[in-house]
Amino acid sequence: GKITFVSYEGEEHETAIVDGQSLMQIATSNGVTGIDGDCGGECACGTCHVIVGSEWVSLTGKQGDDEEEMLDLTPERQSTSRLSCQITVSEEMDGMTVHLPEFQM
Ligand code: FES
Repeated sequence: GKITFVSYEGEEHETAIVDGQSLMQIATSNGVTGIDGDCGGECACGTCHVIVGSEWVSLTGKQGDDEEEMLDLTPERQSTSRLSCQITVSEEMDGMTVHLPEFQM
């Protein structure tokens, strides 16, 4: 399956799903610009911010408490903002699109 990352400027970057990896790992191993994952997925840096399309929210689950706190520090938080290191991907997410915020260019 595929997950597509869309940059703030509208550039699409298609990646292959690796079941069980985090969405941040998928992004960094595919060189998606704007997903840095500086803390290595510890929910402590906020450099893996994505905005999940509303139709995918139910599959990606809810924010944990740590994630909630990090997102609160984010200037451009949106209602479906997530830290991609906290989303575990599965084949069910085939076709999912996530957007990157302006501050992560
Ligand atoms: Fe640091 Fe997600 S990689 S918060």
